[in-house]
Amino acid sequence: MMRKKVYVTRQIPEAAIDSLREQFDVTVNPHDRVLEREELLAGVRGMDAVLCLLTDVIDSEVFDAAGSQCRIFANYAVGYNNIDVAEASKRGIIVTNTPDVLNDATADLAWALLFAVSRRIAESDRFARAGKFKGWGPMLLLGRDITGKKLGVIGAGRIGFNFASKAKGFDMEILYTSTKPNAEMEKQLGARFVDKETLLREADFISVHVPLTPTTRHYIGETEFKLMKNTAVFINTSRGPVVDEKALIYALKNGEIWGAGLDVFENEPDIEPGLKELDNAVIVPHIASATIETRTNMGLIAARNIVSVLTGGMPEACINPEVLK
Ligand code: DGY
Repeated sequence: MMRKKVYVTRQIPEAAIDSLREQFDVTVNPHDRVLEREELLAGVRGMDAVLCLLTDVIDSEVFDAAGSQCRIFANYAVGYNNIDVAEASKRGIIVTNTPDVLNDATADLAWALLFAVSRRIAESDRFARAGKFKGWGPMLLLGRDITGKKLGVIGAGRIGFNFASKAKGFDMEILYTSTKPNAEMEKQLGARFVDKETLLREADFISVHVPLTPTTRHYIGETEFKLMKNTAVFINTSRGPVVDEKALIYALKNGEIWGAGLDVFENEPDIEPGLKELDNAVIVPHIASATIETRTNMGLIAARNIVSVLTGGMPEACINPEVLK
């Protein structure tokens, strides 16, 4: 019997590729970069399954190029705003993602950014490396306390919950806002459900954990930054376009907030002019899930989704389950 064909749009940890190779003919993008559009269209042609990344725009043109035999696009990410899911569903193509396995890594990075901004870690590192450290100083690089402060969590899904749960050790009061209350968040973490405005006004630290959808695009902009305390620390590890980056830069420059920690950007990989120059912004290149263990597990779940679908089973993380009926 002919082996089914799988295309992987970029090298991912080997364990996932190996598990696919056991049963299928697997082709992996040989370049260590995002595929050009033409390369992506050529790569998916005739494939039965595609393992794609959040940096690949997957739309009707790609589905056409792949062909009607293609059963699944397995996204190597929990977010899937890069895929036209409605179009996939119309065509009966299954779309999957990699939930849960990256909750800890993403929440950990949000905390790392929160600390880095509040305690001016990146700025202090630059200062010391530049040979400017001439001895302990009572006013040198003063940051802000974290323990005992108010944490504001936007989004009460898996990652928001995980992030909030890590506040326990810092004795923080937790506020959260979301499309609906999350009973577990209240029962297990003692978090208080509030409206967006209350959260923005009251929280000392605000971290965003919402998916990018038409409703969450620019969810945080000029109005929201103006509502925040001028001592607030703002963290975004969700998706760049959730925040109006121009408004963020204005808020950072004009002391409307204390600082920001960003893993994601509005026009990745471009960074809005002006942001890199600001010492009160800590910016990292979309690395929230970038640990060896997490990236391996993301690969393995994406691979399992493909194996299940191509062998007639049910994928474990399907975004458009209506297609399975
Ligand atoms: C995701 O999975 O959506 C992250 O942004 C990358 O791991």
